[in-house]
Amino acid sequence: MKGIICAGGSGSRLSPLTDVTNKHLLPVYNKPMIFYPLFTLINAGITEIMIVCSKEHTGPFQKLLGSGRKYGVNISFKVQDESGGIAEALGLCENFAAGDNVAVILGDNIYEDDFTIVVSKFKKGATFFLKKVPDPQRFGVPVFDNDKIVDIEEKPTVPKSDYAITGFYIYDNSVFDIIKGLNYSARNELEITDVNNFYVTNASVDAHFLSGEWTDAGTFESLYHASTIARQISISGNIERKQAGISREQISITEIDFA
Ligand code: DAU
Repeated sequence: MKGIICAGGSGSRLSPLTDVTNKHLLPVYNKPMIFYPLFTLINAGITEIMIVCSKEHTGPFQKLLGSGRKYGVNISFKVQDESGGIAEALGLCENFAAGDNVAVILGDNIYEDDFTIVVSKFKKGATFFLKKVPDPQRFGVPVFDNDKIVDIEEKPTVPKSDYAITGFYIYDNSVFDIIKGLNYSARNELEITDVNNFYVTNASVDAHFLSGEWTDAGTFESLYHASTIARQISISGNIERKQAGISREQISITEIDFA
């Protein structure tokens, strides 16, 4: 399984914070935002990771993360010239995937859950992770027929459920052919929801409900919320480690996600 972090886009909703830097380098509590999706992939056991970023900010990403050696993984970078959508960013990684399945995470999504088991058991189709939210109109929203997802609506004005399809997706390698068949949407993006709907209609889809905290961090309110979640998880993690007699120095990189 290869890992892909989509960290392109303009981050315009966070202007002026993003006028001179990239959204994914902004602080979320005590770390740059990109650390959270990166450690989600590393903790899931993924060691080959590509980060898609905009052409203006590749330098700072490389300076921050280097080759990935300090985290025990290989990190490479791919430039997305324009903000052509999440599916476009993913489509740029076909050669990197080299026929393998892919775990794709959005650079502004922050998860508490651990994905090791789901990643290790994945065989084919697509796997989505759902979270009940108070504001589904901000997200890709699943439409259910009993327990089955029959459609996904992107940012619907009148959502048909209270759930968000969150920004971590596992796909088999056919995702790259699916992306080649997509058209740009009204906002001139290749939409990840179109990819997901292709799987819903034509292939097998597995959906999991997240048990831990999750947020995106793409608006001022959600960025603020992300910091409070990260701080809370960090504090409870430190208490658990203290109770278990584990010092911070003993924590390996794969365990320090929220330390
Ligand atoms: O956060 C989950 C939601 O993310 C999903 O529920 C939606 O279905 C999905 O479309 C997406 O919605 P957003 O409106 O939040 O997407 P946004 O444009 O903010 O992009 C999310 C991340 O994807 C962003 O942090 C960087 C990356 N991205 C985005 C674009 C437009 C790219 O890598 N390239 C791009 O061209």
